[in-house]
Amino acid sequence: MAEELTKRYARLLAVDRISFQVNEGEIFGFLGPNGSGKTSTIRMLVGLSQLSQGRASVLGYDLASDMSQARRHIGVVPDQSNLYDDLSAMDNLLFMARLYGLPRQDQKSRADRLLRDFGLYERKDDLFGNFSRGMKRALTIAAALIHEPRLIFLDEPTTGLDAAAARSLRRLISGLRQKGLTIFLTTHYLAEADLLCDRIAILARGRIVRIDTPEALKRQVQEQSVIEFSFRGDLSSSISVLQGRLAGSQATLLDRDKIRIYGGDPPEVFDSVFQFSRDIGIGIESASTLRPSLEDAFLKITGQHPQAVMAEKDDGRIGVGRSSGGGRSGGG
Ligand SMILES: Nc1ncnc2c1ncn2[C@@H]1O[C@H](COP(=O)(O)OP(=O)(O)OP(=O)(O)O)[C@@H](O)[C@H]1O
Ligand SMILES: [Mg+2]
Repeated sequence: MAEELTKRYARLLAVDRISFQVNEGEIFGFLGPNGSGKTSTIRMLVGLSQLSQGRASVLGYDLASDMSQARRHIGVVPDQSNLYDDLSAMDNLLFMARLYGLPRQDQKSRADRLLRDFGLYERKDDLFGNFSRGMKRALTIAAALIHEPRLIFLDEPTTGLDAAAARSLRRLISGLRQKGLTIFLTTHYLAEADLLCDRIAILARGRIVRIDTPEALKRQVQEQSVIEFSFRGDLSSSISVLQGRLAGSQATLLDRDKIRIYGGDPPEVFDSVFQFSRDIGIGIESASTLRPSLEDAFLKITGQHPQAVMAEKDDGRIGVGRSSGGGRSGGG
């Protein structure tokens, strides 16, 4: 889809020779902190901004020659809504329907359908400007779907929403994917990328530093787990016995009675060490997991401070069933 895609603003290199391929039907995530080049990339891919270098195609249409063809099959949800505050929800959708040249007889039914799917039908006659932030975001997505695109670009769809609105929007996005839409989504929430995306490109300072599945990224975190055990006696002579039992992890003696185990699957490490303790007859005084968070992994991959890419508040409220059905339940 993109090859060596580059965007330069005067002397600033915002997007630096990125290459990636989005597969049909997947949610492809662009994860990166503020200013990493996410919006600049989207703007090039949807024809709102010239490429400085490189080439890209969208749905098989080359951006340089066939952008107008591509436009008919893509939907764009910008980071700032493109809808009108002084039009009702319904009128905004009808306006978009006309803009995209939908046949007259289909305009109303399509708008009705989307309002219902997004849980906004009861509010169809209310002004967009009076909508809550979550409802605005939901309607902006609905408007981008009016012409039944095959691919939709979502620029930070949940930024600025509270946990409940963000969750309902994520449910909506998963629903779109289940209907077969290909989704290109940018976010700076690790947890969100993890929940929604089939694959994630990690972006830092205009460069893609890694493209992988969330599972693979998490596996890497797991490999970096660190567990510390204090024993009630000297185990320096038995450490090699323990090492022999640990597959995929490394035991290091910190003190005569203290070890650190790097890597491996934590539950397996605990099992092995407890068994080892029973076998050598030296009890365990304490154990603590120094397991790095996803943020730490991100830091390691990008070399950037995780503050800027914090997962949505660690309150455990983030969530959307990947298998949860339908695009129902709108924001608000
Ligand atoms: N029109 C422009 N003119 C000049 N510089 C720009 C322009 N648009 C973006 N930039 C710069 O390009 C860099 C990347 O910006 P971009 O908006 O693509 O980042 P982003 O990843 O979308 O950030 P955010 O998470 O804040 O939305 C930034 O340094 C930004 O200041
Ligand atoms: Mg942006």
